[in-house]
Amino acid sequence: MLKIGNLILSVPFIQAPLSGYSDYAMRRLGLDFGAPLTFSGVMLAKSAAHPKVLRNPAFRPHDDEHPVGAQILGNDPATMARAARALQDAGYDIIDLNFACPAPKVLRRRRGGYLLKEPETVMQIYSRVREVVTCPVTMKLRTGFDSSRESYDNFYQIVFDASQQNVDALTIHARTVVKKFAGAVDWDLLAEIKHRFEGTTLIGSGDLFEPQTIVQRLKAAKIDGVIIARGAIGNPWIYKSLNAVLTGMPAPAPPTLAEQAEVILKHFEMICQIYDPIKAVRYFRKFLVHYCRLHPMRKQAQKALLAANDRTDLLIAVKRWYGNNHPLRGK
Ligand SMILES: Cc1cc2nc3c(=O)[nH]c(=O)nc-3n(C[C@H](O)[C@H](O)[C@H](O)COP(=O)(O)O)c2cc1C
Repeated sequence: MLKIGNLILSVPFIQAPLSGYSDYAMRRLGLDFGAPLTFSGVMLAKSAAHPKVLRNPAFRPHDDEHPVGAQILGNDPATMARAARALQDAGYDIIDLNFACPAPKVLRRRRGGYLLKEPETVMQIYSRVREVVTCPVTMKLRTGFDSSRESYDNFYQIVFDASQQNVDALTIHARTVVKKFAGAVDWDLLAEIKHRFEGTTLIGSGDLFEPQTIVQRLKAAKIDGVIIARGAIGNPWIYKSLNAVLTGMPAPAPPTLAEQAEVILKHFEMICQIYDPIKAVRYFRKFLVHYCRLHPMRKQAQKALLAANDRTDLLIAVKRWYGNNHPLRGK
């Protein structure tokens, strides 16, 4: 069980905010496979605060996907508060504040991970947002801007202040901002923070790909939950495995080609409802690359699927590579 404010989740695995990926389709699949909560990709507060933007179905939560969280990015407390309110009004169930993004263009504008250098700004944003919404408010952090003492102190200050002010959860990708995705994830630090701030819901992140290891990390660090990020792209089955492993059951067998095809096609149909058909095929390619990882002839399958230029081509390629007469069968 995982408690985030007034939300009680049955299992401690959340689908991460994933810019460019965690749209309605990926979120819906995550829920179907057993993630009790999913997040939108990060939205710039300035845009999300604009009423026109939330009229676009790509930015609104759908009725059949609750609970779902929205994540916002910005450095101006008033704009962040306006965005949070607009997103809550649009139907999102949680507001997550991004103080973690390491993208250079984000850092240059003093947003995301940059704000780990400014604990006061972080807390001003948090307080303003808290004042205007009734839903849970959470923060996504990294473990500091860099590995200097000053960065560490700033990070600790934020964790301390946020805990004092009853933040509903802290999600921490346990690397510094400058490390981006390189180097080891500091699970010991997460364990230490949970130990020191026992009453604060702590959710860990970083290199979570394999169900057994994920459950081990969760238990060893005694944290409240984890977010599944890259490990869930093209792999919604991970949630079924996690649910099994958590209860001491063996992880289910990997999906058969037929099961993979079913999910790929379901995912693609949802994408087609969001984007126009030509854009849908192009947009879906990045997911196909991930889905193909489970295919026994990964390279060949990927090449064939990515060569599809329209919906019909793609359906034919999926049938050929995942159907009864794909090239592997009969060998
Ligand atoms: C393509 C991509 C997009 C991401 N987008 C976001 C985002 O919008 N907001 C956010 O807080 N983190 C974002 N992240 C970070 C993830 O949520 C997660 O913290 C990070 O990938 C570490 O987890 P992993 O190693 O298990 O993937 C993104 C990561 C990737 C790879």
